Amino acid sequence: MTIRCAKIIGTGGYLPETVRTNEEISQRVDTSDSWIVERTGIKTRRIAGAEETASSMAEIAAKQAIEMAGIEAGEIDLIIIATGTPDRVYPSTACLLQQRLGIQNCVSFDIQAACSGSIFALSIADQYIKSGAADKVLIVGSEICSRLVDWTDRGTCILFGDGAGAVLLDSTNEPGILSTHIHSDGAFEDLLYCPNPQVSAKNNDERGVIKMKGNEVFKVAVNTLGRIVDETLAANGLDKSDVDWLVPHQANIRIIAATARKLKMSMDQVVLTLENQGNTSSASVLLALNEALRDQRIKRGQIILLEAFGAGFTWGSALIKY
Ligand code: UT7
Repeated sequence: MTIRCAKIIGTGGYLPETVRTNEEISQRVDTSDSWIVERTGIKTRRIAGAEETASSMAEIAAKQAIEMAGIEAGEIDLIIIATGTPDRVYPSTACLLQQRLGIQNCVSFDIQAACSGSIFALSIADQYIKSGAADKVLIVGSEICSRLVDWTDRGTCILFGDGAGAVLLDSTNEPGILSTHIHSDGAFEDLLYCPNPQVSAKNNDERGVIKMKGNEVFKVAVNTLGRIVDETLAANGLDKSDVDWLVPHQANIRIIAATARKLKMSMDQVVLTLENQGNTSSASVLLALNEALRDQRIKRGQIILLEAFGAGFTWGSALIKY
């Protein structure tokens, strides 16, 4: 029997034009460029324009991925968008993207796994492709985090940015996505959440902005991502030295460095975008992947470890032979 596998055939990325610097943020809240750079690694982030939405940004990233793959949009069987900032509660942002791409016959839905959304989407796509339920799957992480940020809270407003990343997968008989590992633990709601006053039954007077106990999230993230590295390598019978590239969620340079240390990797093998993008939630891993594939840092045949951690808590990894 031939084994079906999911392979990357295209990627894309979009960042809004407006740049917000640490200097500008330090004029609004009690912080400084040096504190932000030292504690997070972030210097600037992009802020979406008033007319932009998750689906409009997704469209630009998706079209790049389709062009790179050299396929027609109509060949796509399934669209999955990971977003915590959908255009509307419904229709899903994926349906809105389907309309923008002019595709009549495909399945489209959103998933919500906060900053781990791209890894959860990759995992779902992988199952669809492996089972034969789909051939070509488009995944997009698209986020306008700036609209959920409390710009008076120095503990969160320094971190987040806006953007969209896309990856197009196709079925193949060669190795591609080797394995995905996704997890959730709902016990940590209070450490990182964003209330929605319009639809939430409780805490109806809370503003709909991100609330985070950053230091506690930080500690759980470092430990959890360390464990998922072991889980991923063990599942594939591989050693740390077999991994060529780490493409991490871009939350904080210190969290990323801890995962690289765990893998005994030099930071030269880590794809970093956070310095000028900040944390773009479900878009960050796909934006980083797009950058490193397009500048040909990552070469065909190399092994890439993708990982992410976010609200829920949710966390996950994907090991890919490119
Ligand atoms: O993507 C989803 C997952 N999210 C994350 O992974 C985020 C994880 N958390 C973080 O990245 C870090 O915890 C932060 C960057 C948010 C905070 O860094 P930290 O090293 O954990 O700082 P802290 O919260 O322990 O605060 C240390 C000090 C405190 O002052 P005192 O109590 O020691 O006087 C804070 O009030 O730093 C203060 N502080 C700041 N000072 C200047 C907190 N934020 C700022 C700030 N500027 N922006």
